[in-house]
Amino acid sequence: MQFVEANGARIPAIGLGTWELRGRTCARLVEQALKLGYRHIDTAQIYENEREVGDGLRASGVRRAELFVTTKIWTTHFAPNDLERSTRESLAKLRLTEVDLLLLHWPNPQVPLAETLGALAHVRKLGMSRHIGVSNFTVALIEEATAICPEPLACDQVEYHPYLDQTKVLEACARHGMAVIAYSPVAKGRIKNDPTLARIGQAHGKTAAQVSLRWLVQQNVAAIPRTSKIERLSENIDIFDFTLSDEEMRQIFQMGSAKGRLTDFGFAPKWD
Ligand SMILES: NC(=O)c1ccc[n+]([C@@H]2O[C@H](COP(=O)([O-])OP(=O)(O)OC[C@H]3O[C@@H](n4cnc5c(N)ncnc54)[C@H](OP(=O)(O)O)[C@@H]3O)[C@@H](O)[C@H]2O)c1
Repeated sequence: MQFVEANGARIPAIGLGTWELRGRTCARLVEQALKLGYRHIDTAQIYENEREVGDGLRASGVRRAELFVTTKIWTTHFAPNDLERSTRESLAKLRLTEVDLLLLHWPNPQVPLAETLGALAHVRKLGMSRHIGVSNFTVALIEEATAICPEPLACDQVEYHPYLDQTKVLEACARHGMAVIAYSPVAKGRIKNDPTLARIGQAHGKTAAQVSLRWLVQQNVAAIPRTSKIERLSENIDIFDFTLSDEEMRQIFQMGSAKGRLTDFGFAPKWD
């Protein structure tokens, strides 16, 4: 396993995304992932699976010190008292005394950012999270957040895969020593049938999905692919034994555009 280091955090470069994983399936996948060598698990309050993620963590038998667990605070809990209360609830569901990374899930212009970041920094000081960060923050919001947050931000978790150009966010995070954590790193499964990635993969004995994940990790970006299939857990972590050439990296960068976003921003704030 490789790690992405950012403002004191050491983030395992591949993690398991758990959006839409529910109930026993979720617990079983988390347990299996950890048995296969995953150490980074990504959940969120809004996924309604923190309890099952906690079950999977325990069933795996992996020592707490080896795990890197992220959860995200939903936007309705951004007022300071709500943020602290909801973090306590998340920890109770996960049955952890602290998470490794606690993120603001989406920007919420209805609550002043300074108040929310102050509360986030406060719960870190209370020992509820080792590191804090943001998700779905634009460049302008990264600049604003880093200027006002009393504690360093470890990351911005954003959609990133070969179809989406994220150069500006990558540059902004680098300026502030923050990691980028890529969500939807296999483009919600669309990568599987991509002819360019499949061709590049063939030369290395790898699948198109593995090429996409390797391309991210080779940029020092962490990635959190989700799968509901045990056999794909191994595929998605088996990316540390090959290297894409500069020319292959360049070809994949050429596939990206500003219009390649798959996430529906319909409910997102109009801050940009
Ligand atoms: N911060 C945020 O706002 C935010 C937003 C979205 C997601 N996330 C996080 O990021 C994680 C990943 O993003 P995502 O779930 O949107 O998309 P993703 O990981 O890019 O794609 C998941 C889909 O791809 C398929 N898949 C996974 N591995 C594959 C492989 N090797 N070959 C072919 N298909 C494969 C899965 O199908 P099968 O189940 O059939 O394998 C699933 O349908 C989420 O689970 C969540 O933890 C965060």
